[in-house]
Amino acid sequence: MKFLITGGLGFIGSALIRKIIKETDHQVLNLDKQTYASNIFNLKSIELDKRYTFVKGDICDEILIEKLLFDFQPDYLMHLAAESHVDNSINNPSEFIRTNIFGTFSLLKNSHQYWESLPLEKKEIFKFHHISTDEVYGSQISDKLFNENSRYDPSSPYAASKASSDHLVRSWFKTYNMPILISNCSNNYGPYQFPEKLIPLTILNAIQGKKIPIYGNGLQVRDWLHVEDHSTALLDIISKGKIGETYNVGGNNQIKNIDVVKKICTVLDQLGIDKPAGSKSFRDLITFVKDRPGHDLMYGIDAQKIYKDLNWSPKIRFEEGIKDTIIWYLKNKKHYL
Ligand SMILES: NC(=O)c1ccc[n+]([C@@H]2O[C@H](COP(=O)([O-])OP(=O)(O)OC[C@H]3O[C@@H](n4cnc5c(N)ncnc54)[C@H](O)[C@@H]3O)[C@@H](O)[C@H]2O)c1
Repeated sequence: MKFLITGGLGFIGSALIRKIIKETDHQVLNLDKQTYASNIFNLKSIELDKRYTFVKGDICDEILIEKLLFDFQPDYLMHLAAESHVDNSINNPSEFIRTNIFGTFSLLKNSHQYWESLPLEKKEIFKFHHISTDEVYGSQISDKLFNENSRYDPSSPYAASKASSDHLVRSWFKTYNMPILISNCSNNYGPYQFPEKLIPLTILNAIQGKKIPIYGNGLQVRDWLHVEDHSTALLDIISKGKIGETYNVGGNNQIKNIDVVKKICTVLDQLGIDKPAGSKSFRDLITFVKDRPGHDLMYGIDAQKIYKDLNWSPKIRFEEGIKDTIIWYLKNKKHYL
């Protein structure tokens, strides 16, 4: 199979590409603009493989997208390119509207033309998979987890831009019969993540003896899923998912932010890393800062559908996954500092 993957130099896209190149015979074309969130180190281990091609470019560049589709002739398009950091979307939303909404439109419009041009046997294979977030559902207000029928109620400009792109993708199915799939996943963690997000930021700040900032009271709850488990889910969805469907992907692993940070500090304490001068624990670096505006209190995913229909379930327990992630950042910190 030929995969056109957008955003493959980012955190999740690179995990997906490493998996495809290392574990299958498929070919990958990675289209990435190389924004600040990308890192060429993320794909160093596979970049020389003959089945891998990289193109630097913008998903909003319609001429480029048309050319790549018709030249490469992908069987699957997996769309992960996005502006992904909520804080940036609050301070500077324009790029989120451009990349996440217009960029998705540009991919849809050109994929539609490409798909219509295919001979029947290739037309029946092609799928467009949009990789999205549980943040489209907004904050969970009761014990009821989000399922695929939950109402969209995004809070941040980031979440709203992902909700918009989900709606566009779904409309291309309803209007043009385009073979699409959408997956909405909870918070990912693991190696190769740019250190603006909670887990890598905490690890790297801690080992440099810098303060570890926590928004508000730190009681916000997120569902954490290892990026390897997410990548497996994405491959199951693109290969076995039912056209036109949405799949929620989650770890069944809701944890308060403060507990995630305390856990990282405990592991660092146990690993015997030099502690900040005069401290007994890395926990001494924790600093509560003014809460993020519109900060959702809780996200929780009901992933029964993908469990039952696609026989997927997360394999990596948080206890092990977080320890491995910390050790990985200790070994590879020079690429992320
Ligand atoms: N990280 C998570 O916890 C999480 C959870 C659920 C869903 N998602 C979604 O998964 C996708 C990947 O997330 P991530 O954490 O890997 O993001 P990331 O920020 O680590 O990587 C995004 C990648 O997209 C590229 N990119 C940005 N704008 C582009 C453009 N205009 N054209 C081409 N490339 C562009 C960047 O260079 C970068 O390599 C996103 O769509 C995100 O919304 C992320």
